[in-house]
Amino acid sequence: MIRKCLFPAAGYGTRFLPATKSMPKEMMPIVNKPLIEYGVEEALEAGLDQISIVTGRGKRALADHFDTNYELEHQIAGSSKEAMLNDIRHLIDACTFSYTRQREMKGLGHAILTGETLIGDEPFAVVLADDLCVNPGDGVLSQMVKLFRQFRCSIVAIQEVPADETYKYGVIDGEMIKEDIFRINNMVEKPAPEDAPSNMAIIGRYILTPDIFDIIRNTKPGKGGEIQLTDALLQQAKDGCVLAYKFKGKRFDCGSVDGYIEATNYCYENVYRGD
Ligand code: G1P
Repeated sequence: MIRKCLFPAAGYGTRFLPATKSMPKEMMPIVNKPLIEYGVEEALEAGLDQISIVTGRGKRALADHFDTNYELEHQIAGSSKEAMLNDIRHLIDACTFSYTRQREMKGLGHAILTGETLIGDEPFAVVLADDLCVNPGDGVLSQMVKLFRQFRCSIVAIQEVPADETYKYGVIDGEMIKEDIFRINNMVEKPAPEDAPSNMAIIGRYILTPDIFDIIRNTKPGKGGEIQLTDALLQQAKDGCVLAYKFKGKRFDCGSVDGYIEATNYCYENVYRGD
């Protein structure tokens, strides 16, 4: 059973400055809902109700968002505006939220290792909230949790990207074992197109088995001098098995301005209910 979902959320969001100067990038709204809330909804839909967030300096708004705001709620009680809080109230009731702070930014691997204290010795999911994923049927995490039940090993979500965009992603190579499922034999963090093992890019959804923590502890800094989760996962793949799953659904890179606008337009048309 997977119950926990880890959100690394300590990054600076420099691509959205000045908006992210004093506001966490995970609080950037897509229409009227912050990115992190979409991520938590996706986790809950997959049955993961223990939400673990790795925060950092200047990120208090995240914890406040998943808490009661008595003044505001008292003010709008009984008015039509109250319904606008239905979704977030439901999440707050249905989930528990735990936080830990990452003091230095030393890469995604380091952020995940910082979350060890919240996760312990059990398999868990990871959501990078700036990758917004939507699917009319099962959400991406739900699809991955189902796969985990069958295979019991770490799983990364992948998507095919144009060859000239591999430098933005971890890129895998693997052998197809079933439709849309690959057993990974190589993965490279942000390769130039000529060094990319394929065009299958990792997007920000993972299921990790807890042995990943020891592997990360022994992982040397890689691309950009940072501790890369991709490098730790390659080690895990060599020691045992890591799967890549070509998920069903759409994904928007909300860490880029173009992806953010695209997600906003899409959600306004297809997701926003205007309540
Ligand atoms: C991280 C990972 C990368 C992955 C990407 C997905 O990179 O390091 O392997 O492909 O997330 O969004 P970041 O975008 O945080 O630089």
